[in-house]
Amino acid sequence: MKLLVTNIARIVGLRPADTERVCGAAMAELPELENAWLLAVDGRIAAYGPMTEPCTEPADRTVDAEGGMLFPSFCDSHTHLVYAGSREQEFLDKINGLSYEEIAKRGGGILNSADRLHETSENELYAQAMERVREIVAMGTGCVEIKSGYGLTTEDELKMLRVIRRIRETAPLEVRATFLGAHAVARGYVGRQAEYVDLVCREMIPAVAREGLADFVDVFCDQGFFTVEETERIMRAGAEYGLVPKIHANELAVSGGVQAGVRHGALSVDHLERMDEAAIEALRGTRTMPTMLPGAAFFLGMSYPPAREMIAAGLGVALASDYNPGSSPSGNMKTVVSLACIRMRMTPAEAINAATLNSAYAMGLSRDFGSITVGKVANFFLTKPMPSVAFFPYAYTTPVIRRVFLRGQEVA
Ligand code: NIG
Ligand code: FE
Repeated sequence: MKLLVTNIARIVGLRPADTERVCGAAMAELPELENAWLLAVDGRIAAYGPMTEPCTEPADRTVDAEGGMLFPSFCDSHTHLVYAGSREQEFLDKINGLSYEEIAKRGGGILNSADRLHETSENELYAQAMERVREIVAMGTGCVEIKSGYGLTTEDELKMLRVIRRIRETAPLEVRATFLGAHAVARGYVGRQAEYVDLVCREMIPAVAREGLADFVDVFCDQGFFTVEETERIMRAGAEYGLVPKIHANELAVSGGVQAGVRHGALSVDHLERMDEAAIEALRGTRTMPTMLPGAAFFLGMSYPPAREMIAAGLGVALASDYNPGSSPSGNMKTVVSLACIRMRMTPAEAINAATLNSAYAMGLSRDFGSITVGKVANFFLTKPMPSVAFFPYAYTTPVIRRVFLRGQEVA
C-alpha cells in the first residue's frame, strides 16, 4: 500500500534516523521542509521531498494536504487512561478548598477509583477505555503508555493490565504497559504499608511478569505515598523480571524520587513539579528522561516544573498528558503543548520536540516513532492551513488537526 500526501505547506519534525532524543539547546530546533510531499509504503515513511521535485512513485492513494502542515503524531508517555467512571465529586471538593493530598487522606482519590474498578467488569473497563483511546487518536496521539494502579489487588491489577493488552491488540495506536501496583496503599492494608510493598514485590510483580503484561514498573514515590526505600525495593523486584522503571517523582515534595530513579536506570522520571538543583544535577549525563505533565499542574493548581532550568542544564525533557480521573482528566496533547509554552516558557519547537521525539524516547519507542524519518512508522497528522508553527500552541483551543494517519492508514 503506497500513500502519497501532496501540497503540504510544511513538514515539521524531520530528523535523521539516529537521533534518539534531543537535549538542551538542540531542543529549540525543529527541522522543517516547506511545500512538500511525503510517501508512505506499507505503513512506514518511504520518502519525502519538495513539490518542485514531485514524487515519481505511482501511489495507491493520494491525499491532498491542501496547504496544511504535517506533524509527527504525539507520543503520550504517561497516562492512566484505563479507569472506571469519573471523579467530578472531587473536582467539586477541590473547588471548595480541599487539596489533592487531603482528598486522598479521606479515602478519596486513587482509592475511590480502585473501588469503582473493582466493581467494573473487564469488558466494561475496556469499552470505557476505548472511548478515551478513540478520543486521543482523533487529537493526534499515535503512541501511548498506559499504567495500571487502580487495581491495588493482584487480581484487579491483572484485570487492568489485560485491558491494556486488549487495547494494544485492537487499537490503531502503539501501546506500552506499565505496572503501577504501588500507586497507593490498598484499603485493606492501611497502616500496614510495608506488607503492601511485600505484596507488590512478592506476588504482583511475579504474576504480572508470568503473563508478560507489562513493559515497565512505576511507583508513586512521594510524600504521603511511597518512600525512596520502598521505591528502590520495588524497582529491584521489577528488574528481576526485566521491568524497566518509570517513576512518579517530585509531584508533592522534593522526594528523592528523581535520584532513586536515576540510580536504578529509570527510562523516565515524571511530574517534577517540585525540583531542586540536586535533582536537576542528578539527571545530567544520564539516560533518564525528565517528563513533565503540565495538565496535572494546571488541573490541581500546582506550580509548574522548572522546564527552562532543566533545558538550560542541558537536559532533554518530555511532555505527557497524565490522562487520569483525579489530576488530569484530559488526554489532549495539543493542549499540553500549549500549557508548556504558556506556563513553562517552552518555545513551540521545544514543546513539540518534547511531545513527540523525547516522549517516544520515554517509552523506548524513538527508534520507530516520534519524528518524520525515512524508515519510521508513518504516524502523522495534517492540520488546517496555519500561518506558522507557533500558531499551533498559540491557538490553544482551536481544533486545527484535520486528518490523522497511523501506520499509513487514515484513522480519524
Ligand atoms: O499522575 N500522582 C499520582 N497518580 C496520578 C493521579 C491519579 C489519580 O488521582 O487518580 C497522577 O497525577
Ligand atoms: Fe501519573
